[in-house]
Amino acid sequence: MTASRDTQRIWLTGATSGIGRALALRLLEQGHRVALSARSESALAELAEGHDNALTLPLDVADRAAVQRAGERLAEAFGGLDLVILNAGTCEYLDARDFDMALVERVFAPNFFGALHGVEAALPLLRRARAEGGRPLIAATSSAAAYVPLPRAEAYGASKAALSHFMESLRLDLHAEGIDVSLIHPGFVETPLTDRNDFAMPLRISADAAAEAILRGLARRRLDIHFPRRFTLLVKLMGILPPALRFRLGLRMTRQQPAPEATP
Ligand SMILES: NC(=O)c1ccc[n+]([C@@H]2O[C@H](COP(=O)([O-])OP(=O)(O)OC[C@H]3O[C@@H](n4cnc5c(N)ncnc54)[C@H](OP(=O)(O)O)[C@@H]3O)[C@@H](O)[C@H]2O)c1
Repeated sequence: MTASRDTQRIWLTGATSGIGRALALRLLEQGHRVALSARSESALAELAEGHDNALTLPLDVADRAAVQRAGERLAEAFGGLDLVILNAGTCEYLDARDFDMALVERVFAPNFFGALHGVEAALPLLRRARAEGGRPLIAATSSAAAYVPLPRAEAYGASKAALSHFMESLRLDLHAEGIDVSLIHPGFVETPLTDRNDFAMPLRISADAAAEAILRGLARRRLDIHFPRRFTLLVKLMGILPPALRFRLGLRMTRQQPAPEATP
């Protein structure tokens, strides 16, 4: 089925909590046909309750076969997809004194490979929407942490930097097909994910404000949707500083002294 001019066929992952939940509620209220994904079936059912325009697709984004099956269900239910928002993700911080490779893999599984599973499943449906004459858009939630290396964020920051890099390359390759790619780079947003953090989170905004900024950016088909700008512009600036200066700033953030010179 083709979407009417105002009603879009949308697939949103990470839909049941935080930023995704705020996005889901707005998109459903706007009357779009929204396929909602997350692992918890009960949370999805609760979110979809009372919304005839919701379709629930429970899955673990790290499970490639499950995401492929979701793509097949989407093809049956919607035909094509006008908008995909790959938002599912997690965060864990590394303690370099106790290097934990399992943690790195746990973070990359949803944040990088999970998002790519979504790309793989969505592409044929975005192409179908394009063939119907639409201008489909695929977006991924990265993070301001992708702009600059931050303390303890080796795994999280690298997973998001890899995702941003991948999607920017993909944007170049999909351009000729008429499929657009947006990247979302939030600063700190008040969600269960950041409620666990034990450090100061400057300029943290509500999930509702984040959803509003994301939908505004998607409507304008922005390539880089970043917010709150007072925070993200500073982080971007830090990202382009000479490495030695960035290193010293990073040390100040963890209140570390530079290591003494090694003595022979
Ligand atoms: N909050 C921030 O400050 C912030 C800043 C920058 C970027 N981000 C990014 O924004 C996105 C949303 O974050 P949030 O803060 O809203 O987090 P959140 O409140 O923890 O929500 C995460 C959502 O993703 C789903 N999810 C997690 N792992 C999944 C998996 N393996 N498969 C399928 N679904 C999964 C969760 O549902 P289930 O647990 O039921 O699967 C939930 O719906 C993430 O990609 C995060 O990295 C957040």
